[in-house]
Amino acid sequence: MSREFDLREALNAISDVVVNRPRPLREFDQIYMKVADMVIQAHYIAERFNNKNIVFIGDGDAIGLSVMHLGSQGIFNSCPNSITLLDFDERIVNSVIRFAEKYGFSDKMSAHLYNVVDPLPDGMFGKFDAFYTNPPWGASNGGESVFVFLERGIEATENESEGAIVIADDPSLPWTQEVIGASQRRAADMGFLVAEMVPQLHLYHLDDAPDLRSCTCLFRRHDTNMAPGSSERLSTERLNNFYGRNNPLTIHYVRELSDLNYGKATDDSYELVKLE
Ligand SMILES: C[S@@+](CC[C@H](N)C(=O)[O-])C[C@H]1O[C@@H](n2cnc3c(N)ncnc32)[C@H](O)[C@@H]1O
Repeated sequence: MSREFDLREALNAISDVVVNRPRPLREFDQIYMKVADMVIQAHYIAERFNNKNIVFIGDGDAIGLSVMHLGSQGIFNSCPNSITLLDFDERIVNSVIRFAEKYGFSDKMSAHLYNVVDPLPDGMFGKFDAFYTNPPWGASNGGESVFVFLERGIEATENESEGAIVIADDPSLPWTQEVIGASQRRAADMGFLVAEMVPQLHLYHLDDAPDLRSCTCLFRRHDTNMAPGSSERLSTERLNNFYGRNNPLTIHYVRELSDLNYGKATDDSYELVKLE
């Protein structure tokens, strides 16, 4: 993988993206990737998925937006053909739509409100040639939340497709290794090979585990006979401990209540005290 891009230009462009991200909701495992790792990850995805039509299953980190922003500005030499984001948080969906319009790439990037509990939206089954997901990492559900996001990504892709999942990777934490192994087996059961794994790469704004890193596992479909035949609603028993211990998936959507005034403090977050 080449690293030939202007670091200053890249960081300034990622800074546009970071200012646009809504505040993360920890209870739904929105834990954002750190900025230097966003540049590396966006570049990796731009290169690996050059000219592809990618579906993102959730993307609070805004890696999709970063890839398209830096790709369309010519900071990266490679760029996907299109990115479609599905996320259950309307603040994230709207922030992506607004940003893509502002920077003139809304023909290449769209975002839609969608919860992984539901079948894929109409017209999205088998439509894309790559998927990307950074799901809830499955520490308390044996990887179930990872499998759900992975399966939706696989359902959304056509025969000659690839996919990337970003999940916890720390060899000193057995649960992370078990979830990686189980996710790779689940992908294999659905006809995908591990094409590449970049271990222990990214860090997050995660107060209770600031050193916990994630890896990227890249998959490639090799057996179309194992592809799912349809996309179905999830059974309730798969939703237990989805966002951590005793935190099942019970919320359908996070709705945006007001204009969040991205990049500026909201009026109710400060008070002006006048000069005497
Ligand atoms: C779960 S977080 C994982 C951590 C990741 N670093 C992040 O903050 O984006 C990934 C994305 O999945 C979205 N998400 C969480 N639960 C979801 C659900 N049930 N259906 C669809 N998207 C969901 C979140 O809004 C977020 O954008």
